Amino acid sequence: MHGPVEPFKIKVVEPVKIPSEKRRKDAIREAGFNTFLLLSVDVFIDLLTDSGTSAMSDNQWAGMMIGDEAYAGSKNFYTLEKSVQDVLGYKYMVPTHQGRGAEHLMSKNLIKPGQLVPRNMYFTTSKLHVELPGGTMPDVIIDEAHDPENTHPFKGNIDLKKLEKLIDEHGVEKIAYINVEMDVNMAGGQPVSMQNLREVYEFAKEHKLKVIFDATRSSENAYFIREREKGYEDTPIINILREMMSYSDGCIYSSKKDCLVNIGGFLATHDKEIFEKTRSEVVVYEGLHTYGGMAGRDMEAVARGLREGTQYEYLKYRTNQTRYLGELLIKENIPVVKPIGGHAVFLNALKFLPHLPREQWPAQTLSAAIYEESGVRSMERGAVSKGRDKITGENIFPKLELVRLTIPRRVYTNTHMEYTAESIIKLYEKKDTIPGLKMVHEPKYLRFFQSRFEQVSL
Ligand code: F0G
Repeated sequence: MHGPVEPFKIKVVEPVKIPSEKRRKDAIREAGFNTFLLLSVDVFIDLLTDSGTSAMSDNQWAGMMIGDEAYAGSKNFYTLEKSVQDVLGYKYMVPTHQGRGAEHLMSKNLIKPGQLVPRNMYFTTSKLHVELPGGTMPDVIIDEAHDPENTHPFKGNIDLKKLEKLIDEHGVEKIAYINVEMDVNMAGGQPVSMQNLREVYEFAKEHKLKVIFDATRSSENAYFIREREKGYEDTPIINILREMMSYSDGCIYSSKKDCLVNIGGFLATHDKEIFEKTRSEVVVYEGLHTYGGMAGRDMEAVARGLREGTQYEYLKYRTNQTRYLGELLIKENIPVVKPIGGHAVFLNALKFLPHLPREQWPAQTLSAAIYEESGVRSMERGAVSKGRDKITGENIFPKLELVRLTIPRRVYTNTHMEYTAESIIKLYEKKDTIPGLKMVHEPKYLRFFQSRFEQVSL
């Protein structure tokens, strides 16, 4: 049996090398057992993130050569604007340097201190950008999303009863807007159904609330709708996307994922008022409203990549490669989040390392151990990422304590997936010998990026 067949051939290669066992041992200690602090030259297969790590197509590289680097009115801006209008159906678009730039502008303009922004599970930068202007982000995802074994096909769905309860308890004026993430990252890359998007939008309109999407992985979400939701089996991805976005007032978007580029982001909306406010402010934080922190050539690559990333054959290969890695692990009973999501395979660290207490950061420990074993870099997605309670300052221990093996788009072969699976299976056989960690350095914001750890004895 073979893995999913790639719908492309390779024109340029970048050599990679596995560091020696001794170097891997030293490197992870120099990095304070934090894979974010490893040097990329010490990494063999880099599954840290799918963000900005895609391989661009010949068509995108050709687009880079027609970058119009005019400060104002770059022609690539208008190409990007047209691409956003055609693919996502939004009338207005404000460019930003990456997704969090758009999050900043959206949150700053829509949230008043003390307000709530309910969302289908948090994402790290999104949560912080809600908290900085004085908001809070309650979780309104369905309960199934918190159970790694549950195979619900749309684990990203919002629980309308939870939304209703929030409004009953706090009053509708306390809600800044409803925030819906596509293909929910922290839940394991789990999609939201079209039906749920429709219902959330109807609910919001009844209560005169706005719906803002985090549409970052919307193309992969659209693929799952086509694969799993009745009535969409033969619908072109672009039509699915446009229908999805019609159930929102606007979105923020990190282009670094589904647009198959290395940098970029934008905010898009049907709402003239949101557009006017954010367009006025983009010049303060990002750059002029016709580049927003991106070079002209980068905007061209995003414009082309947004369209390319909606091709059905590409999305099928993409999601099947992720599934291929997941199934190699499931076959050997490695605990992973099910069903396998769009952009990554998530290991359940609580089941992988049951001998470690939560205070010894099982997911951080596992991520460091995988690197030391194999040279494969992954990312902690558990209590270190979740951070501390805003009010009590205590560590929060979420139900999901995961390690993310994130697959860059069009970058690694199926053999790389097989090597990764085999290394993790080998590590699982000696899991009881892996000691836990204690945190010895904790930065104030988004601590997972820069915190440092030391091993504690078993
Ligand atoms: N929203 C989601 C769902 C994301 O996954 C990310 C980034 C952002 C917003 C912020 O976008 O990085 O362009 O500023 N996720 C990356 C990851 C970092 O590795 O999951 P950004």
